Amino acid sequence: MSRIGIGLLGCGVVGSGLARNLSRHAEDIASRCGAELEIRKIAVRDISKARAIPQNLSALLTENVSEVIESDEVDIVVELLGGEGVALNAIRQAMKAGKHIVTANKLLLARHGEEIFREAEKCGVEIGIEASVAGAVPVIRTLRESIAGGEVKSVFGIINGTANYILSKMTESNTEFAEALREAQELGYAEADPAFDVEGVDTAHKIAILASLAFGSPVDFDKIYVEGITRLKPEDFSFAGQFGKVIKLLAIARLVDGSLDVRVHPAMIPCGEPLARIDGVTNAVLLEVSHAGSLMLVGAGAGGDETSSAVISDLADIARNIISGSVGRVSPTGFSPEKRKTVPMKPIEEIDNRYYLRFHVEDRPGVLSRMTGILGAHMISVESAIQRNAQKSVVPLVIITHSAEEENIRSAVAEIDDLETTREKTLIIRLENGE
Ligand code: NAP
Ligand code: HSE
Repeated sequence: MSRIGIGLLGCGVVGSGLARNLSRHAEDIASRCGAELEIRKIAVRDISKARAIPQNLSALLTENVSEVIESDEVDIVVELLGGEGVALNAIRQAMKAGKHIVTANKLLLARHGEEIFREAEKCGVEIGIEASVAGAVPVIRTLRESIAGGEVKSVFGIINGTANYILSKMTESNTEFAEALREAQELGYAEADPAFDVEGVDTAHKIAILASLAFGSPVDFDKIYVEGITRLKPEDFSFAGQFGKVIKLLAIARLVDGSLDVRVHPAMIPCGEPLARIDGVTNAVLLEVSHAGSLMLVGAGAGGDETSSAVISDLADIARNIISGSVGRVSPTGFSPEKRKTVPMKPIEEIDNRYYLRFHVEDRPGVLSRMTGILGAHMISVESAIQRNAQKSVVPLVIITHSAEEENIRSAVAEIDDLETTREKTLIIRLENGE
């Protein structure tokens, strides 16, 4: 049986999960892909750290990334370092050396994906990126290969396990934000910088990758609207429940009038929608595809073992292509390079939505009518309003609007926030159907 050499860059949460699972499931993997996958070298930052990997692999550790890449024993370089600088240089160096690549690095792919994909094609090497989005869920392969006959209309995703874990905890048990985040970190779900998880940046990295594969277009990461979950309060979850909705951090990519609407923000979705039932670290991606209809992929979105499952699926794929002499069978984006087009991106200000507006205002006569007057002047029609009778001088007041343009909502809210009766910056949550 053929043997394929793997050079591992990084042996943290995902890298050590990969090392354990390649060893545990070696026979299964070999019988599926027709080759034995062997880790030959492992680069880490600190060789003296204790690691949960099979003992025989400890002798393969080095602190020299280049030593792994340039080793003649390594056919596939698996980049699990994270971050931008060292990881990007390592991938460039490996491709130049003719090594195939597998990476889980969504930050890198969101910012440098186009360059990396082009270079992989130029160098005649494979690039596996399944682990970069939604952990164990095979969404990349679905977009690259399984729906080749359909036109993607929209992608809706819950694709950050940490944020979904926190939101689920806050919905179910009123857990404080900080405590829920700490739990997610202890379970190995959070990024090295958890701000990426809770500020929506990690979700944006992932939707940039999905949108670029779904719509066959580069996606300018800096043009994606990104808003996180840090401003949500327990009262928002309770109001959402009153409206029969839940709050989720949604990633959205849609084609609207020939432009790409790509954004990340908390959204209220009806309790009955499939995405509303995705809880904890679970991820889900809902695709709307021309004649295929709705497809929803659900599964573990983070964690060492779960993410390593996606890495192994890429390794098996590349091993099969090496053995059968079909390297480059599927292009990195799933589109022929000459058929890729650049679709313009639509600014969020031009998007229409219904909105949940949560104000903190003084509870006295005339306040509500001034606020609705401002909304009306900006062409915003009120669908319903609730004020909590907290018997305090400042109370939360919630308004649900009919469909309105984002730009009008922002101008109206800015005006209301300037009133002397408004005591806190207003929270805006978009209402989505999750479909
Ligand atoms: P991690 O636990 O922080 O591990 C990073 C590893 O890279 C560590 O072993 C570290 O060495 C090594 N490393 C970092 N900089 C290095 C350098 N300059 N030279 C040599 N080694 C270096 O990260 P992780 O959670 O496994 O994530 C790895 C990648 O997978 C990231 O791109 C992340 O976004 C992605 N990802 C993670 C998950 C998840 O659930 N955790 C899921 C999907 C994707 P030391 O061990 O010596 O510090
Ligand atoms: N921090 C990420 C998450 C890891 O929580 O989803 C998986 O990409």
